Amino acid sequence: MIGRLNHVAIAVPDLDAAIAQYSGALGADVGAPQDEPDHGVTVVFINLPNTKIELLYPLGESSPITGFLEKNPSGGIHHICYEVDDITAARDRLTASGARVLGDGTPKIGAHGKPVLFLHPKDFNGCLIELEEV
Ligand code: CO
Repeated sequence: MIGRLNHVAIAVPDLDAAIAQYSGALGADVGAPQDEPDHGVTVVFINLPNTKIELLYPLGESSPITGFLEKNPSGGIHHICYEVDDITAARDRLTASGARVLGDGTPKIGAHGKPVLFLHPKDFNGCLIELEEV
C-alpha cells in the first residue's frame, strides 16, 4: 500500500545553524523557511535526488515540536512520511488493523498542500509516521 519515502523530518534546535550546515558542509539544495501556523512549525525543505528532508522548528506557543526538543535538546528525527494513493482508504485499512490515527482521523492539508495523516508512534515501533496522498 505505501509507496515512496516522501521525506524524513528532523526537529532542529537552531534553524539558521541547520540551514547553514545543510547548504554549506553537506552541500544540499536547501529551500527558504516557510511558516506553517496551522501546524505550529517553521519548515525548511531540502531536496535530495531520491527524497526530501524537512527541517522542523517550533512556531508559536503550542508547537508540537517544543516538547520533542525538550526531550531531545540536540534535535532528532521527528517523523518519516510515506506516500499513499488514497489516504482515506489507507486510514480505513490501518484502523481496521488496530493502528491509531492521531487527531480525529480526518486528513489535514500538510506542508506540501496535500492531505496528510499521522499514525501513533507506539503502534509503529516508536516511529511517528505521516502518510501523504500524492
Ligand atoms: Co512531514
